[in-house]
Amino acid sequence: MKKAMFSPLGSFFLLLSCLSLASTASTSSTANATTIAKPGCQSQCGNLTVPYPFGIGIGSGCSIDPVFDINCNTSFNPPKPFLETGNLEVISLSDTQIRIKNWVASRCYNQTGGITSENIVWIDLPAYYLTFSDTANKFTVIGCDDFALISGSEGRNFTSGCVSLCSKSEDVLSGYCSGIGCCQTSIPKGLKKFLTSLSTLKNHTTVWPFDPCSYAFLGEQDVFNFRGASDLSDLSFMNRTRDYVPVVIDWVVGKNQNCSQAMNSNAMVCQQNSTCVDLDSSLGGYRCSCNQDINECANSNMNDCDTNAICIDTPGSYNCTCPHGYFGDGRKDGHGCIAVNSQFPVVKFSLGLSFGFLSIVIAITWLYFSIKKRKRFKLREKFFEQNGGMLMKQQISSNQGGVESSKIFTADELEKATNNYAEDRILGRGGYGVVYKGIMHDQRIVAIKKSRIMDESQIEQFINEVVILTQVNHRNVVKLMGCCLETEVPLLVYEYVSNGTLFHHIHKNGGIPWFSWQNRLRIASEAAGALSYLHSAASMPIIHRDVKSANILLDDNYTAKISDFGASRLVPLDQTQVTTLVQGTLGYLDPEYFHTSQLTEKSDVYSFGIVLAELLTRKKPICMERTQEERNLATYFIMSIKENRLFQILDPRVIREGTLEQLQAVAELVKRCLNMNGEDRPTMKEVAMELEGLRKFARHPWVNQEIQEETEGLMSEPSDLYTVQMNSYNTSTTHGEISGQYSLDSGMIFPINSPR
Ligand SMILES: *[C@@H]1O[C@H](CO)[C@@H](O)[C@H](O)[C@H]1NC(C)=O
Ligand SMILES: *[C@@H]1O[C@H](CO)[C@@H](O)[C@H](O)[C@H]1NC(C)=O
Ligand SMILES: *[C@@H]1O[C@H](CO)[C@@H](O)[C@H](O)[C@H]1NC(C)=O
Ligand SMILES: *[C@@H]1O[C@H](CO)[C@@H](O)[C@H](O)[C@H]1NC(C)=O
Ligand SMILES: *[C@@H]1O[C@H](CO)[C@@H](O)[C@H](O)[C@H]1NC(C)=O
Ligand SMILES: *[C@@H]1O[C@H](CO)[C@@H](O)[C@H](O)[C@H]1NC(C)=O
Ligand SMILES: *[C@@H]1O[C@H](CO)[C@@H](O)[C@H](O)[C@H]1NC(C)=O
Ligand SMILES: *[C@@H]1O[C@H](CO)[C@@H](O)[C@H](O)[C@H]1NC(C)=O
Ligand SMILES: *[C@@H]1O[C@H](CO)[C@@H](O)[C@H](O)[C@H]1NC(C)=O
Ligand SMILES: *[C@@H]1O[C@H](CO)[C@@H](O)[C@H](O)[C@H]1NC(C)=O
Repeated sequence: MKKAMFSPLGSFFLLLSCLSLASTASTSSTANATTIAKPGCQSQCGNLTVPYPFGIGIGSGCSIDPVFDINCNTSFNPPKPFLETGNLEVISLSDTQIRIKNWVASRCYNQTGGITSENIVWIDLPAYYLTFSDTANKFTVIGCDDFALISGSEGRNFTSGCVSLCSKSEDVLSGYCSGIGCCQTSIPKGLKKFLTSLSTLKNHTTVWPFDPCSYAFLGEQDVFNFRGASDLSDLSFMNRTRDYVPVVIDWVVGKNQNCSQAMNSNAMVCQQNSTCVDLDSSLGGYRCSCNQDINECANSNMNDCDTNAICIDTPGSYNCTCPHGYFGDGRKDGHGCIAVNSQFPVVKFSLGLSFGFLSIVIAITWLYFSIKKRKRFKLREKFFEQNGGMLMKQQISSNQGGVESSKIFTADELEKATNNYAEDRILGRGGYGVVYKGIMHDQRIVAIKKSRIMDESQIEQFINEVVILTQVNHRNVVKLMGCCLETEVPLLVYEYVSNGTLFHHIHKNGGIPWFSWQNRLRIASEAAGALSYLHSAASMPIIHRDVKSANILLDDNYTAKISDFGASRLVPLDQTQVTTLVQGTLGYLDPEYFHTSQLTEKSDVYSFGIVLAELLTRKKPICMERTQEERNLATYFIMSIKENRLFQILDPRVIREGTLEQLQAVAELVKRCLNMNGEDRPTMKEVAMELEGLRKFARHPWVNQEIQEETEGLMSEPSDLYTVQMNSYNTSTTHGEISGQYSLDSGMIFPINSPR
């Protein structure tokens, strides 16, 4: 058989037999490895098998080019292979890469900063066939007072490096090469030569006791494991899985040409008895592989002849023939060789029968799967239509401005992004569905909401909302990026907001340092601004209908983002109120709306008032563990104002950090928002403006600003003025463990353990 060795592009069978051959050669000393090297050439140097186009012996002609000569130095035992005439010891050779042993640049100091030893490293690879792999290698520097440069040439001159500093050996963590005691940097593609130079900032005088030397080397990043402080005192590769870190070199033959180009320009390097193999790498170049005749019949693993068959070796192949008295194709996975006897016709008949039967089974299976696939496709199409896909497409295309912002995702895309809706991707659950974290193919993180039910009559409304919401572009509103209509229930894709819900931050046990009065005011003001925008500025007013702290999300910078428009309604401009099925969350629900079913934007104002009260008191809207009259935060709050004991229910931190004027003004605002008569409530715009004004209000006139800053976040004792008052009642309002839930979901989302 003419076999193209090391051909990754060869057929599956060829590749397999190549591999099995290679493994026998390296594991068993009796196997003939000569088949891999050029005929007549030595193939083994120590443990290393040297395949063509490499060849053992300088100038022996066993390799394709002197660059690929391997110097097998027999003065070592076992003999050691070196690259060409140099001192680069080869560890392994593969289809595309050479691994050589590395050299570590080092510099050691004495106690007073004098240099006691220094080792500079440079490697210059011969010829354009070899380059340091930019993907497999990293330049690593180890030390606590060091920076090292690697400079070299890859056509363009290049210098790179990294700095590694630390002051205590305890700071240096084993396994972390990230700038403390150890740093790493990449090298450019195509690098052929480099020089490392080590430098120091303070001559190691401050770190000498635990770090007398600095080290730098280029090496295979997956192999080097940083062992922390022990590597600082002595970077010895002893006691590791390997006693060195290899450098990976990519090799090709032929410069910037593929096989057909080389052939056409008469520059083909692959000579007689070798085959040119194209590389799929962007570096260009190709490889030559050796054609050799292998006796496949010698080893039953290398042929598929039936045990009864006779194997005949032919150039480039082999032939399985059945001996006299047998019939069949002689192949193990074919019919093999079957003895001819008196039942000849029966055998033939049953053979034909089983073949026919087999083909029918295969045909049916194929048919079954193709029908199933088609069914699935049809179903998706059906859902797409049923979910208003056509309408949506129309809306989007008729709205030129919205084309970019609103996107229709495919079911496959989202399935992949959520790892097939894996449990560990769930961000939150609620009465309306589940929210998953999704990672799109471009690494963007999104939140994907999978609704539970979808009332068919609401489809048009839903599409309308999606289209309008994708155009709402307010920094305090969670952006809807698009949706997927191919599933039974539409999936909504939102921007991912990372820091959980406001509810979680308010009711978290023990409080959170950043949750200061100023930040609460800011969040309230941001949320109010967003709602006011939805009510008035958007092209058609949108009533959120489910304003609550669990629907206000916080991003990395604790900026508020209103989420969940699942229950929201669009209100045509000429109408100020619509009649709807009452919907909302207990505790936040506007009583007037509850009684009359007349939805106006003032319902949102009421709910927002509750959120404000929550921010002020850190109490839940409804808590069964409070007494009957205090159970509902709205009544509790209003009652406290009326009875002049508001300060008893305010969060101590709010009292500490807010000014009297601010607290009174916000409390007054809450009272107005919670007015039973919707008409008497302020508009969201007024609320937003008032909160914005209060933010700029002067801070505490009687508490020293600096002291306050310092104690912030420690949940320290309230200032003296309030101590007496505070001690007179119990401030603890937390009940059980509250787990923060992330929700883009509307309605009835409750943290675990919180009362419904
Ligand atoms: C190796 O090759 C030699 C000569 O070419 C032959 O005599 C020997 O049987 C072969 N060994 C194996 C295991 O194939
Ligand atoms: C290399 O050969 C030596 C003896 O020649 C043997 O002890 C060692 O295990 C071999 N190493 C590998 C990786 O095959
Ligand atoms: C083999 O290695 C020894 C020791 O490093 C060296 O002296 C000798 O020149 C090398 N031989 C060849 C052929 O490179
Ligand atoms: C450190 O090295 C410097 C320069 O080599 C030398 O002058 C000095 O005496 C050395 N100090 C100690 C403590 O060995
Ligand atoms: C790279 O630097 C060397 C000297 O360090 C200089 O001779 C050479 O021209 C430079 N090459 C390029 C491409 O800039
Ligand atoms: C470090 O050593 C060099 C030469 O040995 C000397 O010039 C330099 O001043 C020293 N720097 C410090 C910070 O000790
Ligand atoms: C390496 O192993 C030797 C003996 O096996 C031991 O004495 C030495 O402490 C070890 N070094 C490290 C850094 O573990
Ligand atoms: C070789 O390179 C030429 C020019 O880049 C290209 O057109 C051709 O498809 C390549 N051939 C193969 C087999 O990659
Ligand atoms: C190519 O192979 C044939 C037969 O296997 C052999 O006679 C010839 O010398 C080989 N040519 C080269 C350049 O190795
Ligand atoms: C294999 O053997 C059969 C019968 O001897 C013959 O007809 C066929 O041509 C052979 N095939 C090859 C590739 O030699």
